[in-house]
Amino acid sequence: MIGVYDSGFGGLTVLRQLRAVLPERDFVYLGDSGRAPYGGRDTSTLLDFAEQCTERLFEEGCRLVVVACNTVSCVALRHLQTRYAGPGSERRVLGVTIPAAEAAVAMSRGHIGVLGTARTVASGTFETEIRKLGPHRVTQRAAPLLAPLVEEGWEATGIATQAVAKYLEGLEDVDTLLLGCTHYPLLASAFEGATRAKVLDPAPYVATRLREWLVRHPEFDAAGTGDLRVLCSGDPAVFAEHGRRFLGTELPKVAHVAEEGGRLQHRERVQVVLGQVLR
Ligand code: DGL
Repeated sequence: MIGVYDSGFGGLTVLRQLRAVLPERDFVYLGDSGRAPYGGRDTSTLLDFAEQCTERLFEEGCRLVVVACNTVSCVALRHLQTRYAGPGSERRVLGVTIPAAEAAVAMSRGHIGVLGTARTVASGTFETEIRKLGPHRVTQRAAPLLAPLVEEGWEATGIATQAVAKYLEGLEDVDTLLLGCTHYPLLASAFEGATRAKVLDPAPYVATRLREWLVRHPEFDAAGTGDLRVLCSGDPAVFAEHGRRFLGTELPKVAHVAEEGGRLQHRERVQVVLGQVLR
């Protein structure tokens, strides 16, 4: 069973590609929707949330966790790998930034534009990974309005078209536009209508790279039956309703993982005895 972690619904666009490429694998998806969006949060909060969610997926029995969230991959992946998946560990944590950078470099003639959340852009991680692979010019742009627009279901409206066009102002030289946020694939037609650049959704590359990785590391997951479980920290009914657009199909019953005292509830809940003690 492979764990997939995201700040909320968005990572379902990544899960959709993972399931298409690895139909025989079982997945458990955790969306921290009760504490999303992550994109404007500070680094120490993100490290804390990322630890809690990764640990919760380990508790579910996953030995491999894929961080589908670009913001977490950019800010916290190294931290998670050092903490949980050092040499000799029986666990692994993988992210989306390196496959995305590889796909962008393979596609680009020289100038890559990267769009993402404010924290993703501030981290500079995509630029760092692209520069390791080639001499490409990289122009990053934070687009904080786009994820909420998609969550609202407004991706096919004039507001989305205008917002996309506004964020692409000044990026006319870019030949490849890397969608560095889980929500942006739902805006693909708005992007394609607003730029001559090739628009890159990295999720299919993330999926094929994961399939190759699993061939090299069979000890971290075994083939199952294509089962999917979904957990979220927000309202499960809202998650199931919105999640459908991101996953492209109905979600199975969504289980709730409550936040208690700033921590995600453990799988084995601490039983709190209610009522008064009689003396
Ligand atoms: N999942 C986040 C990402 O890919 C976008 C949503 C958020 O800000 O939480 O960066």
